Amino acid sequence: KLVPVIMAGGKGTRLWPLSRAQAPKQFIRFLGEHTLFQRTLNRVSDSALYEAPIVVTNEEFRFLVAEQARQLGVKLAAIVLEPMARNTAPAVAASAVLARSLYGDRALIQILASDHEIHADDSYFRAVQVARDVALTDKLVTFGILPTEPATGYGYIKAGEAVAPGANAIARFIEKPPVEQARDMLTSGGYFWNSGMFVFHIPSLAQEFATHAPEVWNAVERAVNKAAHDLDFTRLDQDCFASSPDVSIDYAIMEKTDRGAVVPSSFAWSDMGSWDSIWKLGTRDENGNVSDGNATLVNTRNSLVISHNGHLAVQGMDNVAVIASEDAVYVGRLEEAQLVGQLVKTLAAKP
Ligand code: GDD
Ligand code: MG
Repeated sequence: KLVPVIMAGGKGTRLWPLSRAQAPKQFIRFLGEHTLFQRTLNRVSDSALYEAPIVVTNEEFRFLVAEQARQLGVKLAAIVLEPMARNTAPAVAASAVLARSLYGDRALIQILASDHEIHADDSYFRAVQVARDVALTDKLVTFGILPTEPATGYGYIKAGEAVAPGANAIARFIEKPPVEQARDMLTSGGYFWNSGMFVFHIPSLAQEFATHAPEVWNAVERAVNKAAHDLDFTRLDQDCFASSPDVSIDYAIMEKTDRGAVVPSSFAWSDMGSWDSIWKLGTRDENGNVSDGNATLVNTRNSLVISHNGHLAVQGMDNVAVIASEDAVYVGRLEEAQLVGQLVKTLAAKP
């Protein structure tokens, strides 16, 4: 069986003001009943395919994780707590070391981001099964999404020769390219976006860390060995964890390994990174608006309107996001949705 590892320690600043430092986007309900983290838990609930999930997150979010899992009635194998944010390479290493102690040296883990919307249909589960089989041949497996625009926030994968039915070697992995390079890759074809999910066989993952990022693995292994356990929480040792470099799994391992494989996939996938992606994914009315119902829209088109606080009335607008949280309001053009993260930095700098 696969051991699901859910990474839930990111900050998600571009979705301000619903995504906040105390409760980032994966823990927020945007449209619909469950949070993105809960929807991720639902995707790994098939006990024929999956063990109980391990969640890796920041110390600060421990109650959000525990409470949101409890709401679904999901029993977690462990909640691994990072004393400070060190990005995803240490998070993956920590969960791998823990999975090894819980499930043995030869465990297979599926790393899942908690900030995606995925339509978990048959084609999704077929892709997961192909990835599992290929990971057993000691490949580091990713899921490839067909790119639709020269986005700069993703990893790009150039597919090489076939290594199994439904899987190719990774000829090149380019994390977050500049826009010109993204455009070239889109035009030339043969590239996929990295979905942000991975399937790893622990022995091959450990070996690739030993080759490409031993400082990360060694620091984190000590942090796990000296961890404090209480209830479901595994609190990583602060000093050991702090000594790990701050780096993502994409830069630390995936760009460097020559054992990468990609499963080209066709399931519906969206990185819920910014207000325009929420708008694209929402159910649009006849005027192209997406709203959570707590709003009146007059003479307004192609806009996203969400209120978690009282009724919103919007008039005469086109292509905007109007987002009201309990204590703040954002109004901006949807084309500028990528820039909200920068706006939030200037807000944080205010006294
Ligand atoms: N535990 C933990 N600790 N989780 C983290 C941390 C951390 O320090 N930082 C981020 N995460 C979690 C996020 O909550 C998210 O679920 C996942 O790890 C991915 O992190 P992001 O910060 O959202 O990465 P990204 O979106 O910039 O890039 C990744 O995903 C893209 C697809 O959405 C990369 O894998 C790209 O290659 C990929 O295309
Ligand atoms: Mg992301």
